Amino acid sequence: MKITTSPKSLEQQTAQVLALPILEQATVPPWGQRWPASVRAAVSRLLKDKDATGKLNELVAIPAPAGLKADWVFLVGVGKLDELVLDRLRQAVAVAARRAQAQKRTSLVFPVVLGQGMTAGEVGQALAEGIHLGTYRYLEFKSLKREERSALTQVTLAAARGVSSAAVATGAARGTTIAEAACFARDLINRPSNLKYPQAIAADVQAMARRAKIACRVYQKAELVKMGMACIVAVGQGSVHPPVFVTLEYAGPGAKRQNPLVFVGKGITFDSGGISIKPSDKMDQMKYDMSGGAAVAGALRAIAALKLPVHVVGLIPFSENLPGGAAQRPGDIIRAYRGKTIEVLNTDAEGRLVLADALGYAQRYKPAAVVDLATLTGACVVALGHYPSGLLSNHDGLTQRVKAAADRTQERVWELPLWPEYSDHVKSEVADLKNVGDGSGGTITAAAFLKEFAGDGPWAHLDIAGVAWSEKDRAYLARGGTGFGVRLLTELAASWAPLPSSTTR
Ligand code: BES
Ligand code: MN
Ligand code: ZN
Repeated sequence: MKITTSPKSLEQQTAQVLALPILEQATVPPWGQRWPASVRAAVSRLLKDKDATGKLNELVAIPAPAGLKADWVFLVGVGKLDELVLDRLRQAVAVAARRAQAQKRTSLVFPVVLGQGMTAGEVGQALAEGIHLGTYRYLEFKSLKREERSALTQVTLAAARGVSSAAVATGAARGTTIAEAACFARDLINRPSNLKYPQAIAADVQAMARRAKIACRVYQKAELVKMGMACIVAVGQGSVHPPVFVTLEYAGPGAKRQNPLVFVGKGITFDSGGISIKPSDKMDQMKYDMSGGAAVAGALRAIAALKLPVHVVGLIPFSENLPGGAAQRPGDIIRAYRGKTIEVLNTDAEGRLVLADALGYAQRYKPAAVVDLATLTGACVVALGHYPSGLLSNHDGLTQRVKAAADRTQERVWELPLWPEYSDHVKSEVADLKNVGDGSGGTITAAAFLKEFAGDGPWAHLDIAGVAWSEKDRAYLARGGTGFGVRLLTELAASWAPLPSSTTR
C-alpha cells in the first residue's frame, strides 16, 4: 500500500474511488463547499432523502457524478460536526479503504479534513493509520491469487487549499510506520501456536530487532534456570518447546542511557490452562495470549523507526502453558527471580507467574517507569468488555501519562482500584504468595499479585484480555489480533518526560 499526498483539487484527482466524509446532518458539510457542483448536488439529494445519513462509518456508494476523474464516490459518515475527533476520521477512512479493497478497486482518494483544533500532521497520521489498519488482513496461510492479495495499492490524501500537503505527508509517514508496527504485532498474534512456539516467535522478534537496529537478546531455558527465572521455566515445563526470555533495548539520538522506560509483555504462545485445564470451547483463541509481548515488540519497532529520543527496554517472557507429564502441578511452590516464593494453586493463572520474573528482572535497569501489558484475566473481559483495557498502577503521575496517551490514540484504558486490601487475597499459608485469590475482583487481585514484583518505582499494568482480540470487524480493527498497545506505548514514549517524583501510592 502506497499513500501519497496531493495538493490538487478533487476534480483533478484520478482514481477508481473518491471517498468523501459526510456529516450527520441534512446538508453538505462545510468542507464540501470545495466539492464539484455535481457532487454537492448528489450529496444534498442523498442526505435530504435519507439515503445517506452521515452516521459514523455508514458507507453509501454511488457512481461518480459528471466532472470527476473517478469511477465511484463513497460517502462515508463521520457523525456530528461537534463530535468530530481524530479517531472518527481514522475509522471512516478505514471503512472506505476496506470497502474499496473488498470491491477490488486499486486506487482511492480521501480529502484531508481538519476538524476543530486538528493539525494537518495529526490528520495525516490518523488517516494513514486508518488506511493501513483498516485494510490489514492475515493472509499468511491463504492460497490467494496475486490480484486478490494486492487490491487497493494506492491511496491519495488530497490536501486542497489551506492545508499543507507537506505536513500531511510527514504525519502520514509517521502513521504508516506506527500502523505497520501494529500489523507486525497482529501477524504474530494471528499466527497459530504450532508455528509460534517460544523459540520460533523469539526468532521473529530477533529478526525484526536486527532490521530495526534494536539490541536484542534471547535467553534460553538453561540460562533462565541459572538466572533464577523459575516461574517462566515452571510455566513452560509441560511443553516440549522450552521457554525463552527476550530483551530488547533501544536508545534514541541524544537519549541518556540510564533509567529507561521498560515495557513488559506477557508472551504465552498458547494457554491451555495447563493441568488446571481450560474448557475446550474457544480454546483455539488462546493463541492470542502473547498479545502483550507482541505489543511490546511492535512498539519497540515503531519507536526505533521513528528514532524517538528515548531509552526504552522491552522484556518478553515467551512460554507455552500445556499439561503433560512434566507440567507443573497445582500446589507446587516456586521461587521467583527476586526471591519471593509462590504457591501455584491454579496453573491457569500462569500469566502473572511469567510476569513476576519479568517485572523482577525489570528492576535491574533502575527504570524511570515500568508498563506491562498482559491478556491476564477473563474477569477483565467481564468487567470492561472489549473497548478499554484495564489500568492499574502504583503511581498517579504515570497513570495520568498512560491515560493521556490512551486518549490521543484511542487505545482506551479504564482505571481500576489497586487498594492495599486486595493484596491480602494473594497471601499464602505456605509460601509468600499464592497465584489466585478467592475469585472476587479477579483483575485487581491479579494486579495486586504483580505489584509484589514491580518494585517501588512507577509501574502501570494494562490488562488487555478484552481488547487484544476482536471477534468481529470494527472500523480499523479486523477480526483477530488487534495489535492493541503498539500505538499507545509508542505515544507514551513519544511524549515521555521525567515523572514528578512524589506520587507513588
Ligand atoms: N490468558 C488467560 C486470561 C484470558 C481469558 C485472556 C480469556 C483472554 C480471554 C489467563 O492466563 C487465565 O487463564 N486467567 C485465569 C485466572 C484465574 C485462574 C485466576 C482466568 O481469568 O480465568
Ligand atoms: Mn491461563
Ligand atoms: Zn494466560
